[in-house]
Amino acid sequence: MTCRVLWVSILVSAALAAAFVLGLQRQASRVSTARLAAARYAEPAPSVSASDEHPPPRLPPVLALKQIYTLNQTAFIPPQCYTNTIDDAGTAHNPCYTCHVESRAPNYINDPDVQLEYAFVPRARKNPWANLFVDWSSEIATVGDAAILSYVHTSNYFDVAGRIILAEKLARPPRTWDHGDDGRWEGFIPDAYFRFDAAGFDLRPDGTRTGWRAYAYHPLPGTFWPTNGSFGDVLVRLPAAFRERSDGKPDDLIYEVNLAIVEALVTRQTVLIEPVDERLVDVDLDGDGRLGRSERGEGAT
Ligand code: HEC
Repeated sequence: MTCRVLWVSILVSAALAAAFVLGLQRQASRVSTARLAAARYAEPAPSVSASDEHPPPRLPPVLALKQIYTLNQTAFIPPQCYTNTIDDAGTAHNPCYTCHVESRAPNYINDPDVQLEYAFVPRARKNPWANLFVDWSSEIATVGDAAILSYVHTSNYFDVAGRIILAEKLARPPRTWDHGDDGRWEGFIPDAYFRFDAAGFDLRPDGTRTGWRAYAYHPLPGTFWPTNGSFGDVLVRLPAAFRERSDGKPDDLIYEVNLAIVEALVTRQTVLIEPVDERLVDVDLDGDGRLGRSERGEGAT
């Protein structure tokens, strides 16, 4: 069976940046909480050497997305790579295996070797994620239980009228966020309502589908488990062309079949679906050599 290349957008609300590896970092550099000064544009990035210690970022009161400032020139290497692999009792642990693996196409980064070797370029040998070592205890001590419970119980995604706060804001982006200076936000605008029907499809307040679909997933082992303080929703949405018939009309069945094809491609397993007339999608889903009725989609060959 031939398959088209499908672009899958994945919305992970629990961002990697939020995953702290508390107490486990290889080098706990001491960082004082610098005074945060207001600035629209920050200074250019300093050149860094392995011996540099970086202060925490100076963010203006209005988060300046126009700020271009490289504090960490090896930021593509996440803090997880600096996890201390020897615990207090002297026992070795290997958390690196969760990400650095023998890869399977189309992932061509085959790097299980870094599980055994501290293979950083010199500049990256010292943990540059100084922001993870800021001691916030005095700030935290000023926040009472009632305040934090009220914060947790208040949505910062929807306003009281059920509108998506960030989408409303991006409809007329603040000047400090507007790179193009044209009053338009060019990037992604959140549009998931987290209101799912029985099949996992996200519904707008008017009951129409947004295209986002929730699916069962295992969080990556490590800091990403709910037991370690991390939680999130994972949704998938295929581009409009995969949600429509050839005449451009939205079609739920075609979308469900396309999602099943994606699942079969990713998991490389047969995916069971509701019986479907293959002529509708013009694809021999069950690979039996003819366009008939199919109850399964085969992985790509
Ligand atoms: C959460 C996933 C994750 C974990 C866990 C993780 N890494 Fe990484 N690591 C990455 C990513 C992403 C990169 C950047 C992309 C790349 O270079 O592969 C990276 C990069 C690296 C690099 C630089 C590779 C290069 O080509 O420059 C080294 C070395 C490394 N990690 C070592 C480790 C070690 C040692 C551990 C365990 C203590 C570890 N990593 C744990 C995700 C992870």
